[in-house]
This record gives sequence, C-alpha cells and structure tokens, in this order.
Amino acid sequence: MCRIFAGIIKEGDIAPILRIGLKRLEYGGYDSAGIATIYEGKIHVKKDKGKIDEIHQKLNLDELKGNIGIAHTRWATHGAPSKINAHPHLDCNGNIAIVHNGIIENFLELKQELEQLNHKFVSKTDTEVIAHLIEEYYKVFKNFKEAFIEAIKRLQGSYAISVISTYEPDKIFLAKNGAPLLLGKGKDFNFASSDAIAFIDKTKECIPLEDNEIAIISLEGYEIYKLGSGTKVNRKPIFLNWNLEQASKEGYDHYMLKEIMEQETSMRWSLNAQKIYLELISDYMDKADKVFLVGAGTSYHSCVVGSYYYSKLATVTTIPVIASEFIENYGSSIDINTTILFVSQSGETADVLNAVDFARKRACTILAICNVIGSTLTRVARAYVLQQSGPEIGVAATKTYTSQLIIHLLLALNLAKKRGKISQYEMDEIKEALNEIPFLAGKILREKSKEIKEVAKRIINKNHVFFLARGLNYGTALEGRLKLLEIAYIPSTAYPAGESKHGPISLIEEGVPIIFIAPKDETRKQIIGNMMEMKTRGAEIITLAEEDDEEIKSLSNIFIGMPKMNSIITPILYILPLQLLAYYSSVLKGLDPDKPRNLAKSVTVL
Ligand code: M6R
Repeated sequence: MCRIFAGIIKEGDIAPILRIGLKRLEYGGYDSAGIATIYEGKIHVKKDKGKIDEIHQKLNLDELKGNIGIAHTRWATHGAPSKINAHPHLDCNGNIAIVHNGIIENFLELKQELEQLNHKFVSKTDTEVIAHLIEEYYKVFKNFKEAFIEAIKRLQGSYAISVISTYEPDKIFLAKNGAPLLLGKGKDFNFASSDAIAFIDKTKECIPLEDNEIAIISLEGYEIYKLGSGTKVNRKPIFLNWNLEQASKEGYDHYMLKEIMEQETSMRWSLNAQKIYLELISDYMDKADKVFLVGAGTSYHSCVVGSYYYSKLATVTTIPVIASEFIENYGSSIDINTTILFVSQSGETADVLNAVDFARKRACTILAICNVIGSTLTRVARAYVLQQSGPEIGVAATKTYTSQLIIHLLLALNLAKKRGKISQYEMDEIKEALNEIPFLAGKILREKSKEIKEVAKRIINKNHVFFLARGLNYGTALEGRLKLLEIAYIPSTAYPAGESKHGPISLIEEGVPIIFIAPKDETRKQIIGNMMEMKTRGAEIITLAEEDDEEIKSLSNIFIGMPKMNSIITPILYILPLQLLAYYSSVLKGLDPDKPRNLAKSVTVL
C-alpha cells in the first residue's frame, strides 16, 4: 500500500513538483519515500526511510536535476521500512527505475529465475524484480516498450507501476492492475499518479486507467494500450471539479480537524447528490428480493445504519456485511438475482474490490456509493452515486462517513416513496429534517468543541472505553469506537446496549467510562434501563442526549446536550462529538491523528 507520482515537464526540474505532489499522497503510506529523475542520460535517485519532509530536510530532494521523474511514498508490505527497501528501485546497471503500488504475488519465483541469470538484487521488496525483468527482456527485444510489456505480462498480483529508463529518456511507462492509476493531461507537461490530488493544482484533466492496461506519457501526450491484445485505447479525459484548496489544511492543525469542521458544507453537497442516480439505484434495490450492503471499516458502519433506514422507512430487508467476510459468508448463495450495494469512500479498498469481483462473476447486480470518481468501484458498478464529500486526506474517515449516511437516507426515502410506504406528512417531516442537517452540524461543531476537549481529558488515561446505543445509533457506537481506537489508541468496545448484559457487563467496575448515545427515540426507555444497570456497577456514565432530557442528565456523570432533532437524522449528527472526542484524545496524547500507526487511507491489499 503506497502511492506513486510521475511526471514530465517541458522546462525546469521535475523533482520539486514530485516532492510536493508526494506530500499530498502521504496519506497512502509514509514509512519511506524517494524520487528518481533522468538528467544528462543518467538516472539519479534520492530515497530514504521516514516521512517526506524528514527525507527532504536530510537529502534535499529538490536538488535532483531533470525534467522527467518518478516518485513514491511507501507503506511496507514486503521488506521492512528502510532506505534500501524504499522506492524507486533500479535494475543491475541503473538504466531502469521503477515505483510500484501493490503486491507482486509471484515475485519469489521471478526472483529465482532472474538470479540464475546473474541479476543482483539489493532490496527485500517484490518491486525490484520488475526492474530486473524489464532489463532482461530489453536484452532480448532491444526495444524498451516491448520489453516493458513482456515484463508486465509476467506479473501476477496487483500493481500501479511507473518506470523511467535511459533507453527511452523522454517517456514514462505505466501499467495498472488492481491498484489506482490516473493520468493528468496538460499542455507542456503530463503526469500520472495514484490519486489526482498530486497534480490537481496543475491540471484538472484526468484519464483513469483500467486494469490490464499500460500507458506511455511524454511531452507529446499519452497513449493507452490493452496489455493482452496490444490494442490502442482511445480514452478522453474527464474533468475533475476538486481544487487544491479543498485538499489542503486551510489553517487547521490537522486534516482530520479540518475535515470534521467542514461537514456543514460536505453534508450540503451530499444532500444534493445526483437525483437520477439515486433514482436508478433505488430502482434496482426496489426490484431485488434482498439487498446486501457491503463495506469495510467506517463504510461498513454506514451500512449498519443504512440497514435500519431501509427497513424502517421502506420496509426493505438489507444485510450489512463486512467486505472481507462477504465471500466466505454469502459466496455460495449469491447469484444473478442478488443485488449488492457496495460502499467505499476510496473505491479502491482491496477487500471491497475482491468481493465485487466475486459477485460480478456470479452475475450479481453491483451498485455503489463512492466518493472518488474514476475509482475502480465506480468503473465496475452497474450504477453508482457519488457521495460528494470532497477529498478526504486524514486517514480517519469523518466527513465521508456522514455523507454516506446521507446517501443511505436519501436512497431509503426514494425506496419508501416507490413502495408507497410513506405518507405525505411523514415525507414532509423528513424533508424538513434533512434541510436542517447542515445547520445543526455547524452549530454542534462550533458549540461543542470546547466541551468535548474536556471530556477527552477525562478519558485519555483510561484503560478501556465502552460505547453503547440502541437501534439507529448502534452504528454510531461502532463508528465512535473505531475513531477513538484508531486515532487515540484507546482500547474500546461498542455494543448494542441491550446486548451489553450478555457479557461485556463483567468488565464494568468503578470508573470505567461508558459513552451512551441516547437520543429521544423509541429506544430511550430501554437505554435508560441499561444506563442504570451500568451506573449501579460504578461505571462513569457519559451521555449524548437531547439537551432538555433531564432524566438522562440526572443519571450522567458527563452530559453532552444535543439540539432537538428528528430521530431519523440522529446518526448523522450524534457522531460529530464522537469524531471530535477521538481527535482531541489523539492530540492530547501527543499523537498525529492524520497518520495513525500501521494504517493507510485506503487499504489496497487483502
Ligand atoms: O475507502 P473505504 O471507504 O473503502 O475504506 C474503508 C476503510 O478502510 C476505512 O473506513 C477505514 O476503516 C478508516 N480507517 C476509517 O477511519
């Protein structure tokens, strides 16, 4: 799991552009990084272990000369993070340099084959094998494009690859299978990257590559070919409407905080998601016997909340499933009559794409909610709706979660209408509630930050935190817990409150914090019962409840009052204080919430 960036410019040196672009890609991996350029007929490389700024400070990456180059930021899969294992990797003679995102599954057998041909390997990575393989084929073909294609054909696994070579010093060779790769087209330059964020300040014209395609970029333009047949592909650029400002920190200390705080806006965008696609997806869902909702991590949690929406509003049974379990759990029972709504912010999560692949082979109907246009998921889905969150850089999903919830709610409403399950009065009430969402989000975020910071001080030294809720907000408990756990490294458990007495209650003793999500809905009476059970056992009760709920207030050690709202929108708004709680807990512990250890923004390996 890494990110790559490559480019050629007419004038000047490419290295500073690559470094700045790479910095924006750091969310995809940050244990080592490097850049290679071609200057005066030779390849020059600077790389090291660590984050890009640290490496730049040490090595001055900008000093690399040359108008063509490739760059990489790494999240180790094969070979520990180290200078030697950092990309770019070279062939034996230093004429070929490569960067790669993905995993080459057959690298060991290729390595053995090449070692027998006297190739000398310096790293422990799977990537280095590709440079030597191209080198070997170049000896045969004496034509770099042919050597590149033959080498790529030998690879099994996933990859987004970018290669420069002294044999073709004005071209960048690219290949894609199972990892994202996009071209950025300009007048006096051309780029390629795992994510358009790397070049979006230079061009908004973007060409996504498909699996099993290779591409060549030069100052003259771009060429795309099918890997198997060699057929030339004629693909026009799509226009990206994101700007760099949207992708930068805008004065906040961390991307995570910026992204939490901008939810008033992102929610407004999501509420305006394209109606024709919402309509199309709900048509498919309407005709289905049952619908699976599949996602990983936060996106899975949105599916949990979604399943309550579809059932409560439209009486449609949906089954939320964790992507990595989908094939084992339901693989044998899905077929042409199965409809699956996949949810993925990035559209590139390997567990999700693996399930998609499996489901496609069984002729299932693939639907999607996704944030990234041109991502693999949007390209393979029968129909998809963009969640319109804007780019999310922080590793923790925040604004993309609330956008996904809004899309589920809009789909559920569409379905309810189609099925005649909702009265005009109910519809008007929900529409009114939807309109209030952005305003309420802004209010909560502005008014609650200080208070939440104080709560964070109370929990950061605790050994364990519980999150309990019922009904619609069970998903809120799951998501609040994931945020705290992944960003602040505080062990946490989330349960449906009713289930807590079937085991977890044995962990409760004096001072154990339990966060109850307890809005005024039909589950309120029961959740009060659960609060009492826990209070009697000495738990520290922290509640998120309606501000005038005196009964709940009297049971709480810490009470976080939320504005009055229609209970249907509570999952979208009650998660906000929990996102802030995770953020402040992380910062108070001296951690970097944007770069939690061992995590990457989009997990592109199984
Ligand atoms: O891009 P996706 O929505 O498919 O990503 C799914 C998960 O990897 C992601 O939500 C992950 O759990 C984050 N760490 C959540 O903050």
